[in-house]
Amino acid sequence: MHCLHVVGARPNFMKAAPVAAALAARAVTQTMVHTGQHYDARMSEIFFTELGLPQPDVNLEVGSGSHTVQTAQIMQRFEPVVLERSPDLVLVYGDINSTLAAALVCAKLLIPVAHVEAGLRSGDRSMPEEINRLLTDQLADLLFTPSADGDENLLREGIPPEKIRLVGNVMIDTLVRMLPQAERRWPRLETAFPGGPFALVTLHRPSNVDDPRQLERLLAALGRIGAQLNVLFPVHPRTRQSIADGGLAVPQSVHLMEPQGYLDFLALQSHARVVITDSGGIQEETTFLGVPCLTLRDSTERPVTVTMGTNVLIGGDLERLQVELGRILAGQGKHGQRPPLWDGHAAERIAGEILLHG
Ligand code: UD1
Repeated sequence: MHCLHVVGARPNFMKAAPVAAALAARAVTQTMVHTGQHYDARMSEIFFTELGLPQPDVNLEVGSGSHTVQTAQIMQRFEPVVLERSPDLVLVYGDINSTLAAALVCAKLLIPVAHVEAGLRSGDRSMPEEINRLLTDQLADLLFTPSADGDENLLREGIPPEKIRLVGNVMIDTLVRMLPQAERRWPRLETAFPGGPFALVTLHRPSNVDDPRQLERLLAALGRIGAQLNVLFPVHPRTRQSIADGGLAVPQSVHLMEPQGYLDFLALQSHARVVITDSGGIQEETTFLGVPCLTLRDSTERPVTVTMGTNVLIGGDLERLQVELGRILAGQGKHGQRPPLWDGHAAERIAGEILLHG
């Protein structure tokens, strides 16, 4: 059996790594295709190195562009590759433009597609990722869901139940494997960022960072938080660009950093007093770690992090941000539980299902 993985951007790499390892353990032939959607060393290469993800056999080098241009370029460049490599199954991950582009090419060529992290829905179609999720799930032949809400969403959308497998969360597989190594990074990080408790911040959603006025409001709110505890903010290239384009002043109490590698970021998450984010994956990682998470979005495609985990949706209400932060600092934050099947073995279940299917 020959499986071809398509990865493109940062959140794909930690999902593909355990699946590639589980398939390798079962002697499956594999091809790794990187679309090149993310190309900076700190957004891509460092994850291959740290996670032991097989180096790409092919890089489509599409780079940045509008959603249409990026998606179309991936499709155009992926088609000859998949025809030449002729895999039995193509695996796509998450909800980025590369995910949908590859799934669409395969659907037209009648090449079976498996979607890892299927079924998640925010209900907000203004998010580009929601469009990618909806369409990828319609096209996929095998849908691997991380939590039961995913199965319910897919069934409601008319996906036949025999295509759906509830396997758990592959990103948590990587977290479980890498946490001991990440913890060994902590003493060095603690020395580099002295000063006690800290809030760890990430922001990159278009709805938060593309409009400079909105980003300015958020930076001001982080500045106020910086008066209470340290604020460490690894900055996504999109956000850095927006800060520069808007000529925005960053409050002195907010410590901007380069995007972090997987291990350092995991160590920072695990030791943070609170994480403030608009990322999807970080809502899950903090739930697993039991670290309070305040999410600057109105909705989440990962509701289990709210119902079972440590996540609180803040939306754009910056007064609420202060109130919830106060609660956490007073020791009254959510403690949460780990959702079922977030146990470090999701990728093994996926590999087992793939071999049955193949
Ligand atoms: C993409 C995903 C998003 C995911 C995020 C993680 C889509 C629709 N979005 O968003 O779901 O959460 O990745 O980071 O697929 N840039 C660089 N270097 C890079 C990559 C990007 O400088 O290596 C800059 C470019 O200016 C680019 C911008 O970041 O235009 C945005 O990159 P893009 O891949 O379009 O989307 P993300 O915002 O990263």
